[in-house]
Amino acid sequence: MEIKKLLLCEGKTFAWREGDLHTNFGLVKGEDIKQGKVKSNKDKEFIVLEPNFNDLTAFMKRGPQMPLAKDIAIILYYSGIDKDSIVLDAGSGSGLLTCSLARIAKKVISYEVKESNHKLAKKNVEKFGLKNVELKLKDIYQGIDEKDLDVITLDLPEPWQVLEHAKKALKLGGTLVTYLPSIKQVDQLVKEAKQNGFLVSKTLEVLEREWLVKENIIRPSHDMYGHTAFLTFLRKI
Ligand SMILES: C[S@@+](CC[C@H](N)C(=O)[O-])C[C@H]1O[C@@H](n2cnc3c(N)ncnc32)[C@H](O)[C@@H]1O
Repeated sequence: MEIKKLLLCEGKTFAWREGDLHTNFGLVKGEDIKQGKVKSNKDKEFIVLEPNFNDLTAFMKRGPQMPLAKDIAIILYYSGIDKDSIVLDAGSGSGLLTCSLARIAKKVISYEVKESNHKLAKKNVEKFGLKNVELKLKDIYQGIDEKDLDVITLDLPEPWQVLEHAKKALKLGGTLVTYLPSIKQVDQLVKEAKQNGFLVSKTLEVLEREWLVKENIIRPSHDMYGHTAFLTFLRKI
């Protein structure tokens, strides 16, 4: 059953699907849940919101480590994808990057080598109602079926094993993006990418620090999203 509304009360978020909602702040009647505000039987006020894509990602079924929004946002921007782009993503994992790409691109094909992750990604793609995604149970190190791709995104441990296949599958000028936790992996990738004739555009990492803005307290949060991965952007020339 899909999540229809989110109810917010005292910093807590509750997902509502159907029927009455039981919370530690009291019961909210299903028939009263409409966008705006609603009170529970304990007189607690809830803000009712229509969930957007970002809200719903918090409720996704999780498998392997998913990329964070800070990295996905930069991938979407620097890869240059738009409504006409055909994108290949691997490995699918839980499907978060696949789904994020599919909200912008014309079509996303996503390869996953592990059957349980392939099934998980399928469930998540269906939950988001995305019709422009094709999921394949396939090892990308063995080759790429597609041609004339605009973008390839790789969130897997040995992207250098994909360079030769990617060169055949990408359009001239197409972008290859890799997501790698260790700089030693980046070093190997960049060396091999140059040998394969790719243009190495850039390697970067994204750090996200939230600020607390509350009455007289205005300061950076003690916690931040620090290192997750290095993103490397290559172009086929
Ligand atoms: C870190 S997860 C990817 C997470 C994904 N980007 C997401 O948004 O949920 C890495 C995935 O790559 C898959 N994988 C590893 N090697 C692969 C290969 N050669 N071909 C396809 N998938 C592969 C793993 O099984 C795993 O599911």
